[in-house]
Amino acid sequence: MLVPVSESSAIAASPDELAPSAQRVGATELRTVQPASSEFRRWLDIVADAYPIMKLSTAEQRDARWEEERKLAPRQPEQRVVGAFRDGVLVGGMRLYDLRMCVRGAQVFSGGVGSVAVGLAHKRHGIARDLVRGFLLEYRERGAAMAVLYAFRPNFYGKLGFGHGAKLNQYAVPLTTLPDDGLRERVRALGPPDAEAFLETYNRVQARTNGLLRRERWRAELRLEQPQFRSFGFFDGATLAGYLSVEFRLGKSDTMNRNDLFVHELIYETPAALRALLAFARSQSDQFAKLIVNTQDPDFHFSLDDPRDGSDRSLFPPVYHTTNTQGLGPMYRAVDGAALLQALGGCRFGDLDAVVRIALADPFFAPLAGTRAVRFEQGQPAAVDASTPADVDLAIDVADFSALVMGSVRLRSLVAYGRAVLSKPDWLRRLDAAFDAEPPQCLTRF
Ligand SMILES: CC(C)(COP(=O)(O)OP(=O)(O)OC[C@H]1O[C@@H](n2cnc3c(N)ncnc32)[C@H](O)[C@@H]1OP(=O)(O)O)[C@@H](O)C(=O)NCCC(=O)NCCS
Repeated sequence: MLVPVSESSAIAASPDELAPSAQRVGATELRTVQPASSEFRRWLDIVADAYPIMKLSTAEQRDARWEEERKLAPRQPEQRVVGAFRDGVLVGGMRLYDLRMCVRGAQVFSGGVGSVAVGLAHKRHGIARDLVRGFLLEYRERGAAMAVLYAFRPNFYGKLGFGHGAKLNQYAVPLTTLPDDGLRERVRALGPPDAEAFLETYNRVQARTNGLLRRERWRAELRLEQPQFRSFGFFDGATLAGYLSVEFRLGKSDTMNRNDLFVHELIYETPAALRALLAFARSQSDQFAKLIVNTQDPDFHFSLDDPRDGSDRSLFPPVYHTTNTQGLGPMYRAVDGAALLQALGGCRFGDLDAVVRIALADPFFAPLAGTRAVRFEQGQPAAVDASTPADVDLAIDVADFSALVMGSVRLRSLVAYGRAVLSKPDWLRRLDAAFDAEPPQCLTRF
């Protein structure tokens, strides 16, 4: 997803992970484009043409955006723009992000990429492929284990080896049906002075929530400063134990009180925090009609007394009530097998005791393709020589493997669909249980 740069969030690289300055991939030279340079302004033209949703159609709008970018750049050392040059001419580019992602409880250095764009006059010459390959090469070189992006076209990135993340569930819950037994008197509006607590609460949840990206202070500050967002926190004593960040979405022009509360983040550490925040939202029902909850929690409907969306539509006979719509967004990709195994070395894959040989198909990125063996001891993985006798062999494509590692798909489903093949079908139950994980969440825009 492409959003104003001020809303993106990431963290800076440590010194040993500093970015290389330039590289050649195929016929394309890739190098960092500095925000103050005229090349950056040309890059903005390419991006604005590729993403009309940015609404930067005039030169004045693009100049204003350039100025905003230049101002923000010092606050955002974790991200930079890489230009693609052919014969010295800027023909495309992308924005790269240094990220820390919670994968199965481990904090994993990962690369993020966004704003992939190729000039209108230069499409279908392999430039996007070179950009994405260059992104993978760079982050592999710097020790990253995973890559993550928001796919404007999932099929485009699927071909490049990215696997789906979890689906987002969007519930439109009439406020009057929300539970009202929470302690809403412990909820208060949050403002800029609460930035530290706001950040700490998010990062405590991040540390134990699969997929969430670590966040830095400036991101929390921005959320509390930006007038389009309203945030409300639940306090357990002095501790901010949960918060709700919403935006007001207006109803139809001829209505008064049909506006919605559109949830950007619903973070809670305890059931009491969740109940209080929902009760607080309910107390706004004189002014707002629905709470639009966006969540990757597949069980969220159990938290509601009535998860129907108010349309009273039955989807399938005899009766299936419409509850929510769904969408796919983030996609994930393994970048380096050894780095991934090292990063996940302290994780438990159930209580699996076995040597699993994994044959990874990766037509797009040769460094990852091939066969590796992993020994699991009481669930903990470690690399062993590929020639080690294996209990079972798993053949899988890198996109599905990445989704499996992230927990967005069950192994048993991939096997059922013929997308993963086990040499011994009687191992399926054990391996499926071992790879099972909470579906990954992502609340960071980039
Ligand atoms: C999408 C985009 C980045 C592709 O750039 P590109 O340099 O033309 O892409 P490449 O030449 O490297 O092509 C890579 C593959 O992408 C796919 N692809 C690219 N453009 C496509 C199109 N218009 N229709 C269908 N597939 C397309 C093809 O599979 C292609 O491989 P092929 O040529 O071997 O069939 C470019 O068209 C663009 O900037 N689009 C607007 C912005 C956008 O959608 N960006 C996000 C991409 S998810």
